[in-house]
Amino acid sequence: MNITVIGTGYVGLVSGVCFSELGNNVICVDNNVEKVNMLMDGHVPIYEPGLKDIMNANMKAGRLSFTTNIQDAISRSNIIIIAVGTPSLPNGEANLSFIELVAREIGSYMDNYKIIMTKSTVPVGTNDRIQEWISSLTNHPFDMASVPEFLREGTAVQDTLYPDRIVIGTHSERAVATLKELHQPLTDQIIVTDIRSAEMIKYASNAFLATKISFINEISNICEKVGADVSRVAEGMGYDRRIGASFLKAGIGYGGSCFPKDTQALIQIAGNVDYDFKLLKSVVEVNKDQRFNVIRKLEDALGSLEGKEIAIWGLAFKPDTDDVRDAPAIEIIQRLLEQGAVIRAYDPIATENFRKEVDSPSITWEERAMKAAEGADALCVLTEWKEFMEVNLTDLAAHMNQPILIDGRNIYGEDQIKDTSFQYYSVGRPGLTNIDGRKTAVI
Ligand code: UDX
Repeated sequence: MNITVIGTGYVGLVSGVCFSELGNNVICVDNNVEKVNMLMDGHVPIYEPGLKDIMNANMKAGRLSFTTNIQDAISRSNIIIIAVGTPSLPNGEANLSFIELVAREIGSYMDNYKIIMTKSTVPVGTNDRIQEWISSLTNHPFDMASVPEFLREGTAVQDTLYPDRIVIGTHSERAVATLKELHQPLTDQIIVTDIRSAEMIKYASNAFLATKISFINEISNICEKVGADVSRVAEGMGYDRRIGASFLKAGIGYGGSCFPKDTQALIQIAGNVDYDFKLLKSVVEVNKDQRFNVIRKLEDALGSLEGKEIAIWGLAFKPDTDDVRDAPAIEIIQRLLEQGAVIRAYDPIATENFRKEVDSPSITWEERAMKAAEGADALCVLTEWKEFMEVNLTDLAAHMNQPILIDGRNIYGEDQIKDTSFQYYSVGRPGLTNIDGRKTAVI
């Protein structure tokens, strides 16, 4: 099939590359000339394992190309995928201005029947509006379809090539047949719905996963007070197939480009139809506060943070990405600076992006994890990068001014802690003991 993907962000680029990998001819369009030039030279602007190799192989095979010429791309394709961004407006609502712009361009350049497939996450009812924007500018026939994207950063290629399910929301039999054929190589699990249900499936899925995270984070807070171990609690819950084991890792809360934005947007969508989504509002509140447990634990260990040297390991919102959008580390570091702490931060790949969000003369950006911990009064682990798990903790304690470790992601186990001198705070596991038999502190 001949496909044009409009927008070369995370979703657009990964989808375009993966559809070309399946043997389709794909043109990826973006209005950012610099980005398109970079892609044409075979460089990937995001850190995503595996993407660059597949992209270059398909470019070489002549199935994948990049352009800024949207008119030409549209005229050469029978499926147009909209994958432009829908950033949050200050009130949490999704900003649809890029979508509208693209819809109007599609409308003006239509020259024969096409399927317009939306992959951007858009509020319920948006595809109907896209249909109106396009039809106001063309008499050529077309069908709308909402095919939401569920990929995760860091495993985006895998998630796209081996999805749990594909949701196709459309009212057209013709579009169903074509889109089923397009997605058939990926999975047998294809769910066909009306457009509004497909739009809602995306928000409801992300809101549900966010709910699981805030739920287990609250359970972890209670575990700290009653002396239970949240990791064992989650394990015990997870074997119940009705609950499932995933997304029950307690930590410092969710970040990233989707959960914070989509939960806010769904609260807004509900509010627009006079529905108060109380549960989801609480999920967001819990998530906002969870990150500050790191500060509370530091204060418990050190008292005032004024002038204290705090090492930070991990800035990205999760491992295997350089993305820092809504990363809990942003507000944690801002709060530490407000309280007069001096910071030594290290992340394997996200430092450059992070410095665009927060920078200060009180922060030193280190290039090695051990260097950041050298002489520190406490170390906070904010992202569960594999290299942090492999560190020798006795060695680490010896490098620090005070052996205080705040593990915001529960990356260390009882076995590693018990032989060290660390005053070790984790999330919801108050019973772990160090070499002196001292239990991890509870706040
Ligand atoms: C998410 C969805 O998983 C994906 O389906 C959607 O398309 C986009 O949003 P992503 O943001 O890339 O993907 O990351 P994900 O792996 O889902 O993690 C999101 C956040 O939740 C991270 O900050 C992570 O640290 C946190 N998380 C995840 C937890 O705190 N505990 C968990 O058990 C799982």
